[in-house]
Amino acid sequence: MLRFAEASKPVEFDPPLLLAPMAGVTDRDFRLLIRRIGGVGVVTMEFISSRALVGGHRAVTDLMHFSEEERPLAIQIYGSDVETMAEAAEIVEELGADICDINMGCPANKVLKGCAGAALMGDLRLAERMIIAVKKRLTIPLTVKFRIGLDETRRNYLELGKVCEASGVSAVAMHGRTAKQMFSGKADWSAIARLKETLAVPVIGNGDIREPEDALRMMAETGCDGVMVARAATKNPWIFRQTEALMSGGEVPMPTIGDRRDLILSHFRMVARRESSRFALHKLRKFTGWYTHGLPHGRKLRQRINSLADVPTFLAAVEEFFEELLERERAA
Ligand SMILES: Cc1cc2nc3c(=O)[nH]c(=O)nc-3n(C[C@H](O)[C@H](O)[C@H](O)COP(=O)(O)O)c2cc1C
Repeated sequence: MLRFAEASKPVEFDPPLLLAPMAGVTDRDFRLLIRRIGGVGVVTMEFISSRALVGGHRAVTDLMHFSEEERPLAIQIYGSDVETMAEAAEIVEELGADICDINMGCPANKVLKGCAGAALMGDLRLAERMIIAVKKRLTIPLTVKFRIGLDETRRNYLELGKVCEASGVSAVAMHGRTAKQMFSGKADWSAIARLKETLAVPVIGNGDIREPEDALRMMAETGCDGVMVARAATKNPWIFRQTEALMSGGEVPMPTIGDRRDLILSHFRMVARRESSRFALHKLRKFTGWYTHGLPHGRKLRQRINSLADVPTFLAAVEEFFEELLERERAA
């Protein structure tokens, strides 16, 4: 059980496993899918620009719908202007999120140039003012997600962690890479261990969880209070349920081909219902790439779908692919 205290509306969840925010991925459909499979403590929305949120931009407010079934849900905001971030946090709470998270780890140039995301690690005084101002507007827990630092010469995560704790955040999450590394190299779990030793608030470890066993290993090696998973959940949406089973000493459930087919098709039908055809196709192609990773003949399907021009044909091709796989399985 993990508790985000330090708020008048604390949040408790079990298991201590979190779906990381991923822009373009952790939308409502994907969060619901993960929640329905189970084993996840908190799901997080893709990051939201505080400026667009405060400005009431339609594209952003449309993105922010969620359902009761997803709770507890964290909404992550980013920005560089303290007052805009505070206003955005207030909206996040009004919308009914359970947790508000500030992004201080995004290494994308577009975000860094606006002095948001990981750039805030280069200006801890601004980061501190922002956290304090945001915290003042919230009764739900505030968390901050960051990286080790901007680059190898500026690994100031301990300082930022202390700033977060002194400013009343409920927990911090750290991806064990510098912003400069983006996704290269290996996540440095020893830094997560050091952060955990330094802080009293819960520390969520993040970076390079590929298999359920990795989550247990991260907890054992770093002492972190919770584990956040991003990329592995796109290839294996069962990873949370599998990790939960492993944590409680049970057998790791392995999805069958039939389970995979059902999951993919139900996800794709959700996408097709909600998105315009062009956008849906783009999304379906992206997810098919992930979901069929490691499946026999997956590459054949991935090649085939590139030439399919509409959603019904796409769904039929996916169905046919799985029918063939199941047929082969039955025949074997
Ligand atoms: C496609 C993609 C989108 C991401 N979007 C966000 C985001 O919106 N906010 C954020 O804090 N991190 C974002 N991240 C970083 C992840 O949350 C996570 O910190 C990182 O991928 C390391 O975890 P992993 O090794 O489990 O993937 C994103 C990562 C990916 C791959």
